[in-house]
Amino acid sequence: MKWDRARAKSALLLLLALAVLSGLAWRSGVSVPADAPLMGDEALVDETQDSRPKLIALTFDDGPRRSTTTALLDGLAERGVHATFFLIGAQVADCRDVVRRMDREGHQIGIHTFDHVRLTDLNRADFDAQVEKTRAALKSALGHNDFLLRPPYGMLDESVKAWAGCPIILWSVDPEDWKDRDAGRVVDQVTAQARDGGIILMHDIFPESVEAALEIVDILHAQGYYFCTIEELFAARQIPLEAGKSYWNAYP
Ligand code: NI
Repeated sequence: MKWDRARAKSALLLLLALAVLSGLAWRSGVSVPADAPLMGDEALVDETQDSRPKLIALTFDDGPRRSTTTALLDGLAERGVHATFFLIGAQVADCRDVVRRMDREGHQIGIHTFDHVRLTDLNRADFDAQVEKTRAALKSALGHNDFLLRPPYGMLDESVKAWAGCPIILWSVDPEDWKDRDAGRVVDQVTAQARDGGIILMHDIFPESVEAALEIVDILHAQGYYFCTIEELFAARQIPLEAGKSYWNAYP
């Protein structure tokens, strides 16, 4: 299990980028009239302004599905956005190139079981047939082994925590995009519920969800949000991700 071998390099680069962004935000928030008297540095600091950038994570379950996932990856690449994908093991074999593309383009990858089954009340062998089998399929495709877990339906018990072997990632915003597949409603709900440190749950297997996700990115970008992977989000907030523990958000 090398999930805790955090991709230190990318997390560090993100932190550096955030430091630069936060410096820019702070500077742009300060305006001094040309004829203002000279002041000490302290007088220039606006204490009411939060200079820290707002971070949020987009996560997608139930893929990969070649048509919709590829369209989503194209849209995210155009926008320079990294997301996190919790994959169905049974769908990996036919989409190994798509999964490799996710990994290559800086997205984070997690396990969403092999057959999309609930993980509670399973014995160890059945649990492993869902989680370890998916982990092995992903390792075979990608050559590394540091995958997060999102249990279907968010259902957890003590056995799931004990056997996960990695952090368990839940969510703070769930627009239930599968229910009516109404992109406009999903956009409205997610943008209304978005907050700094949030984790958005969507599904990259519907064209309407792909359309909604890209519109959400554009709207939240304009509101000053920075999209990052789960690992980057928690690293930036200095919250350690631990195997067997569950996480709903990284609120400040
Ligand atoms: Ni699911």
